[in-house]
Amino acid sequence: MEAEELEAVEDAVRNGWLGMGSAVGDFERAVEKVLGGSRIAVAVNTGYSALHLGLITAGAGPGDEVIVPSFTHLADVQAIRAVGAQPVFCDILDGTLCIDPARAADLVGPRTRAILSMDYGCHLVDHAAIAAIAEAHGLRVVHDAAHSFGAFLGDDAIGSFSDICMFSFDPVKALSCIDAGVVVVKTEAEAARLRALRVLGASNPAELAYRHQRTWEFDVVEDGFRYHLSNVHAAVGLAQLPKLDRIRAGRQASCRRYSARLAGIDGLRLPDADVTDLNPFLFYVRVLGGRRQAFREHLADRGIDTGIHWLPAHRTTLYGVCRRDDLTVTEVAAEEIVSLPLHSGMADETVDRVCDAAASFFGGR
Ligand SMILES: Cc1ncc(COP(=O)(O)O)c(C=O)c1O
Repeated sequence: MEAEELEAVEDAVRNGWLGMGSAVGDFERAVEKVLGGSRIAVAVNTGYSALHLGLITAGAGPGDEVIVPSFTHLADVQAIRAVGAQPVFCDILDGTLCIDPARAADLVGPRTRAILSMDYGCHLVDHAAIAAIAEAHGLRVVHDAAHSFGAFLGDDAIGSFSDICMFSFDPVKALSCIDAGVVVVKTEAEAARLRALRVLGASNPAELAYRHQRTWEFDVVEDGFRYHLSNVHAAVGLAQLPKLDRIRAGRQASCRRYSARLAGIDGLRLPDADVTDLNPFLFYVRVLGGRRQAFREHLADRGIDTGIHWLPAHRTTLYGVCRRDDLTVTEVAAEEIVSLPLHSGMADETVDRVCDAAASFFGGR
């Protein structure tokens, strides 16, 4: 966080309207602008909330199945459970670690309601293929774009073409509100429903809150949730948004530097990704030959923290019983992936220090 974010928080707190107010409306309009203006953004308090409400919008409920990679963030599968549906685990593509469209098509059954696909790290889902499967089978698509806010697929901003899209702006995302999520939909009817769902199902017009006014009259027509976003969090996002180009350029530069400096190391597989149009959330490598843990310890000994995105959901107790595809690619990737440090405005020397430590594990430098 820089001076602008700190100032924005102070202004929002001094302003006195701490809950959902004008900054939330402004944040939604600013996100819509990033997406090119063709979609409607509804802000909520977390990415998980956005996934939950996105799945409700998709009509997923008890008795339904949602096809999702097991190799995904836990929020995706917990959100499926939260609507009473069951996840069906699909394998991923070895090249992108995103959902394998052909395998997803094979998993479609009479109870399938939706496909939940997640852009991963420096890769995007094959969105055209997923949309084609959805159209062929009358399914909804929920696109988890928590890793790809500010990215493009060709000329189209991520979030501008999916059936239902969601973003997370949690503390570690490329663009952060400290905590927030956004659901992106196509129709005003869906947006209006989302605006009620996020305030316990109450019909109070958001426009009033956005003018810092209240009404004491409301109707409730369905279950709702306390998912609305505070003005303070939205103000942080508004302070971050003008920096999006700088954030994206910095993250791209770090990924390119990692790729160039780690190229050609035996035993290390790099993502085959062109980051030109992306705003990468994470940079991962694959450590081959069962040496992942030793590699992580080697880096930890040199003061470098690494991550594992993700532990596949089907390996957990709750989700181990769910219907699933053959998950061979998932199983292999899950043993190999390591996320290296990546943040906005990372100094070249920091990237180099990580690369030197990584190379030294394999006997180089
Ligand atoms: C891919 C993905 N989906 C969903 C989420 C959940 O978002 P939040 O932490 O804002 O609830 C995250 C958070 O890290 C994520 O990385």
